[in-house]
Amino acid sequence: MGWDGPGGKAGGREKLARELEAATGRVRWVEGFREVNASTKRYRVLMGSAGSGKSMNVAQDLIGKLSNPKFAGANLLVVRKLEEANRASTLPQLIQAAKAFYGSEWHRAWSVRREPLAMTCRVTGCQILFAGMNDLRQREKIKSVAFERGKLTFIWVEEATELSEADFDILDDRLRGVLPRGLYYQITLTFNPVSASHWLKSRFFDHPDPAALVHRSNYRDNPFMDAAYHRRMEMRKKRDPEGYRVYGLGEWGGTEKMVLPHYQVRAFDRDRERFDRVVLGQDFGFNHANAILEVGMKDGGVYVMRELVLRGLDTAAIIERATAAGVPKDLAMICDSAEPDRIASWRAAGFRARPVKKGAGSVLAQLDYLRGRELVIHPQCVHLIRELAGYVWKKDPLTGALLDEPAPAPDDAIAALRYAVDEVRRGPNFTF
Ligand SMILES: Nc1ncnc2c1ncn2[C@@H]1O[C@H](COP(=O)(O)OP(=O)(O)OP(=O)(O)O)[C@@H](O)[C@H]1O
Ligand SMILES: [Mg+2]
Repeated sequence: MGWDGPGGKAGGREKLARELEAATGRVRWVEGFREVNASTKRYRVLMGSAGSGKSMNVAQDLIGKLSNPKFAGANLLVVRKLEEANRASTLPQLIQAAKAFYGSEWHRAWSVRREPLAMTCRVTGCQILFAGMNDLRQREKIKSVAFERGKLTFIWVEEATELSEADFDILDDRLRGVLPRGLYYQITLTFNPVSASHWLKSRFFDHPDPAALVHRSNYRDNPFMDAAYHRRMEMRKKRDPEGYRVYGLGEWGGTEKMVLPHYQVRAFDRDRERFDRVVLGQDFGFNHANAILEVGMKDGGVYVMRELVLRGLDTAAIIERATAAGVPKDLAMICDSAEPDRIASWRAAGFRARPVKKGAGSVLAQLDYLRGRELVIHPQCVHLIRELAGYVWKKDPLTGALLDEPAPAPDDAIAALRYAVDEVRRGPNFTF
């Protein structure tokens, strides 16, 4: 039975609204967010450990509200620093939330448009649009964003630490003007507290703002996290105490020093002809991610053009996916040297795979090479960008002095980048 069945469109909509209302009882919530979801304050500031349930909770909360006829006229803008990152993070979370409410029938309640990305509730007409703040064009777009019905009332900034305070002010500025009764403006920020020197700390934590609800959460209070996750976190506590502070305890991180602080994220012309040389770098992984990067070099600058990052697949499956994705077979592919069997499989599949030359100190030398160059990353390479943001120097646990070694953290795409530049770094004696 379609939703505009015999009763006509309006009748169908009411019926659907009743059905949807009945479904809300089925949704499961993480208890600790109750106060957050009830708050109508202008700012909801949700900091917490990894896996505490922040994103899922906000997705469910907003889907629930925007599906409710009481909120007709409200609309949501979902923001990540990189607009493209929405496709792999906030969109699936919102769809998962719609499924939590309506099960396999969710698309009777919500429609999804892929280009440009949007979700629309079929009952209330409320819309969700997605945006980024990575460059002037994306910021300008935010200033002019418009909805089919009603006004922009809600903004959700996911991984809010990626934004600058100026970005935040642009968003804040968008929520103004008189609203119909029952609606209110609200910005929700979700993030891991990566660094105590972050502007979010001074703006919302050091100087409490009566217009803000500040909330902290931890994965231990999320009943949906399994034992394996708890074990991984315990392991992290031993191996990476700094990271554990932020991602395990949900407490403000130290003021770490980034290993590669100077990279730029921006779109550029990826036509191969424009570069002096283009190569592939690959770091093998199964439990860890398997990362392949396509890297162009021009006038001494390093341009990361594309990435393919996959997890939990064996070599044959990765080769299949890489072939389908169009990873070029005519480029040199510089691979992790630790696994010659895998290199042989790639060669058998027609790729120009070969091992990187490893030597004492080669990691530091490769990083040093990258630090001395212009490093431009295409916004599509979201894994690499995420890794770089958390790639900091290790500290001596006793003295706090910086050591000459990166702190343990996910670095699979970074490894692929190191391999990609290695032959050029070693100079012209290398044959291609
Ligand atoms: N209400 C819920 N119902 C079912 N599962 C949930 C719910 N909330 C969270 N989960 C589970 O917990 C996991 C972690 O939640 P979520 O992704 O929201 O955490 P997070 O706090 O945003 O973490 P991060 O800081 O890493 O982004 C989800 O992937 C999901 O499996
Ligand atoms: Mg999250």
